[in-house]
Amino acid sequence: MSKLLDKPYLIDFPKIGEPSLGYISVAEKTNLPFTPKRIYWIYNTPEKINRGFHAHKNLSQVIIAITGKIKLKLVNIKGEILEFHLDGGNHGLYIPKLYWREIRFSKDAILLCLASEPYKEDDYIRSYDDFLKLL
Ligand code: TYD
Repeated sequence: MSKLLDKPYLIDFPKIGEPSLGYISVAEKTNLPFTPKRIYWIYNTPEKINRGFHAHKNLSQVIIAITGKIKLKLVNIKGEILEFHLDGGNHGLYIPKLYWREIRFSKDAILLCLASEPYKEDDYIRSYDDFLKLL
């Protein structure tokens, strides 16, 4: 399948442990769609703040809600909307390139992002109008 037709999907990471001990989850080659070149995390986001409001030309991501709850609204270049709710450190959301994203956080949420590429501002599409013009 062409990379252009890639779709977002949820990944279940292993959850090793039990309630009395806590858990370890693992992301590795066997359960990731790409080998990450960059890892970043977002935290202390006020609940009334929406982040994102961009798409990427080439970069893809796996997003994990390490703690708390994260709501993602994704839009593809046809204008179709997809909504995902992440809450549990053993789930990840694969977001291919060319998906507009808007993200909301619960107060305690920490978002971990595994990114397929290094940071490059010119990979961002930050105007929704420019994004829709890709169609
Ligand atoms: P951005 O990706 O726009 O985050 P969000 O969509 O959640 O608001 O990044 C916010 C700022 O941080 C922007 O000025 C670029 C900078 N930044 C880096 O310098 N390196 C990085 O790896 C990332 C993800 C962001």
